[in-house]
Amino acid sequence: MSAAESEPWDEYPRGAALDFDAPNQARLFDALLGGRDNYAADREAVTKLSALAPGAHQMTRDHREWFSRALRLLVTQRGVDQFIDLGSGLPTVDNTHQIVQRHNPDAKVVYIDNDPVVLAHGRALLEENDNTHILDYDITEPEFVTSDPDLRRRINFDRPIGLMLCMVTGFLLDDVVARATVHGWVDALAPGSYVVVSQQYDPADGSHYADIAHALRDGFRNSKIATAFRDRHEIESYFKGLEMVEPGLSYLHEWWPDGPRMAKLNDLNFLILGGMGRKP
Ligand SMILES: C[S@@+](CC[C@H](N)C(=O)[O-])C[C@H]1O[C@@H](n2cnc3c(N)ncnc32)[C@H](O)[C@@H]1O
Repeated sequence: MSAAESEPWDEYPRGAALDFDAPNQARLFDALLGGRDNYAADREAVTKLSALAPGAHQMTRDHREWFSRALRLLVTQRGVDQFIDLGSGLPTVDNTHQIVQRHNPDAKVVYIDNDPVVLAHGRALLEENDNTHILDYDITEPEFVTSDPDLRRRINFDRPIGLMLCMVTGFLLDDVVARATVHGWVDALAPGSYVVVSQQYDPADGSHYADIAHALRDGFRNSKIATAFRDRHEIESYFKGLEMVEPGLSYLHEWWPDGPRMAKLNDLNFLILGGMGRKP
């Protein structure tokens, strides 16, 4: 969809307002991960999601594990020691700074989000950690954010950065905005930086999985958790100009699996793609 073709949910306010009567992206993820920072509206959304596609809790855990594998690869094998986590969400079991600072206590992490609840919880968690900060920005304004002294004081843009954009581009409902956001951030990175993206996937092939993607999209269309499922071509476009790290853009369970899989795969495992690219 282009910016010109407006959809009903385009009018819906994104992120920032405090409203506990409606589900919210960050709190929905918290509820799916079994956290405590969610409300009845979020849990109702989980029930609705589960009715449309069973396996949402497992998928969220799988996503978290994939996210950890990507970070571990960067910090232990690629020497990355500064990270920006865009649309970081509510603090959960294992957060970016805990994962990377376990391997390199000096690694710097900046979380960026614009949800007031995420910002409040993040600040409380990070009070004691000088190498980790959470900042309130709209990630769709990369040029403004990446030139802001507040961010530049904490992250050195002349050196490689690990940029995490996980389960966030799907909440930027306009394709053009989502693509421009990723490219704008990539433009600001030094060579040798890495970009990690996961995104809700629409196989767009008339399959059973495509039907579920469309049911989920339609089911949440007019809510604050409205999500864009995108086809492979669109998701690949995020990595334009980057060298893909093997195995390329793939299902999360096929990307550097830790070992034999114990939990069964669900439909939702086939509705998210993830990948990592290196800026040459
Ligand atoms: C589903 S959560 C993803 C959490 C986390 N990245 C993960 O992988 O588990 C999406 C987050 O993106 C944030 N977000 C969405 N649009 C944003 C924007 N334009 N600027 C900043 N944060 C945004 C939301 O507030 C929410 O916390």
